Amino acid sequence: MTEPLAVAVLASGSGSNLQSLLDRFNLGTDPSARVELVLGSRAGIFALERARAAGVRTDVLPQPADDQRRTDEEFLSSSLAEADIQLVVLAGYLRLIPPAIVRAFHGRMINIHPALLPSFGGRGMYGRRVHEAVLAEGCRITGVTVHFVNEEYDRGPIIAQWPVPVMEEDDVEALASRVLAVEHRLLPLVVHSLATGAASLSSEGRVEWRNPLYGTEVFENG
Ligand code: GRF
Repeated sequence: MTEPLAVAVLASGSGSNLQSLLDRFNLGTDPSARVELVLGSRAGIFALERARAAGVRTDVLPQPADDQRRTDEEFLSSSLAEADIQLVVLAGYLRLIPPAIVRAFHGRMINIHPALLPSFGGRGMYGRRVHEAVLAEGCRITGVTVHFVNEEYDRGPIIAQWPVPVMEEDDVEALASRVLAVEHRLLPLVVHSLATGAASLSSEGRVEWRNPLYGTEVFENG
């Protein structure tokens, strides 16, 4: 049996997406990957508690008040290397990833976004702002995107998307929670697909699926 893919999760908040990975890989029965490290952008966030409860190593990025402050780049490159991390997952991580780290993890760093990119993405489009914008446009459909991270905000190669309907009576909270429930399903699926080699980034920068997540059969028999 091959070793589980060593995953680091970077988070800034509640960490419910982190939990979906812990539930499948660390606490559940899928041996293809394992969360080995959780890094928080600040101390005291719930994501770090979730990690500790699952017995996963945690650390916090350098803070402005640190005496011996290291740069994010120094911190990330040493802590990801020390834990032999093979895949970095940005799950609600709100701090900028230094470009050198993005380059070092080319094809091995993914992000989850609560809308169908390339719509409703880019700088400043995070959290409830995404859902506010979707509602303001009167969109009838939104969704979830998981993509590889490159140096352009929310513009890396798309790995998988899942649509979510917008209901007539939705407010931001109702829409956000419907989208989040889908995030919790899609993210572990994508990590499993990368861990098993079902999906990967080609040298031309395209996402290739060996075993597609879904086929066209539902459209062909109508
Ligand atoms: C999610 O909506 C994710 O898509 C976005 O930030 C939120 C994080 O939620 N990037 P959580 O911390 O995983 O609960």
